[in-house]
Amino acid sequence: MFVIAHLSDPHLDGTPEAQDRLRRVTAYVRSFTRPVDVVLVTGDLADHGTEYAEVAAELAAFDVPVLVLPGNHDLSEPFRAGLTAYVDSPGAGHPVHQVRDVGGARFVLLDTTVPGEDHGELAAESLGWLDGVLSEPTDGPVFVAFHHPPVGLHAPAIDQWLLRDAAPFAAVLRRHPVTALFAGHLHNGVATTFADLPLLLAPGIRSAVPLPFEPAAAQGLLDPTAPPGLALHLHTPDAAVVTKFVHLP
Ligand SMILES: [Fe+2]
Ligand SMILES: [Fe+2]
Repeated sequence: MFVIAHLSDPHLDGTPEAQDRLRRVTAYVRSFTRPVDVVLVTGDLADHGTEYAEVAAELAAFDVPVLVLPGNHDLSEPFRAGLTAYVDSPGAGHPVHQVRDVGGARFVLLDTTVPGEDHGELAAESLGWLDGVLSEPTDGPVFVAFHHPPVGLHAPAIDQWLLRDAAPFAAVLRRHPVTALFAGHLHNGVATTFADLPLLLAPGIRSAVPLPFEPAAAQGLLDPTAPPGLALHLHTPDAAVVTKFVHLP
């Protein structure tokens, strides 16, 4: 069994509150009697795109491989420069695309950010790069991870910042054997599909976005009192990915 601890949206900002919420998740993952095979963080690591020394210090608590990709709160250059131990992306600046092999599994980490914007896009060059990467043969599962989901939460305030123009992305994914898709940005544990593939979104560590009919929606876009959480994805060959969403007390 291959176990992925999927974290998202810690939004570290130098405050004890943000740090404590991430540390609760980290401590939970580290308490397992069987180590996870990899930790994946799907974006919005630094709330202002500057707090990467703090991010790196927190990620150092894991003694398993850690994969990271940027969200709309991250900035490409500081992200690369501050997380050199965790980022392996050719070139410089934006976008920060990566291909990482961990324990026989391939992770294609896409940068869906648009500098200066909160919504996501994948330019034609990025889709061409993805098409080429997914054409390379590999024996194990192939996971494609990114920050902006192309499917919303039925919460208008956040759904305006999804991945736009998703049809060409779906067309590329449909041409290749992909196991599952992982994303963040919605600050909620969500299971849906995209391009006929499982699309699994990790809960937000920093906060949650309530559905419009949930009581917390009366407080506004974000519910900072919602418990931090994560997703655990379990993969075994020739079987469907099983996901458990965990919300910590
Ligand atoms: Fe976020
Ligand atoms: Fe985001």
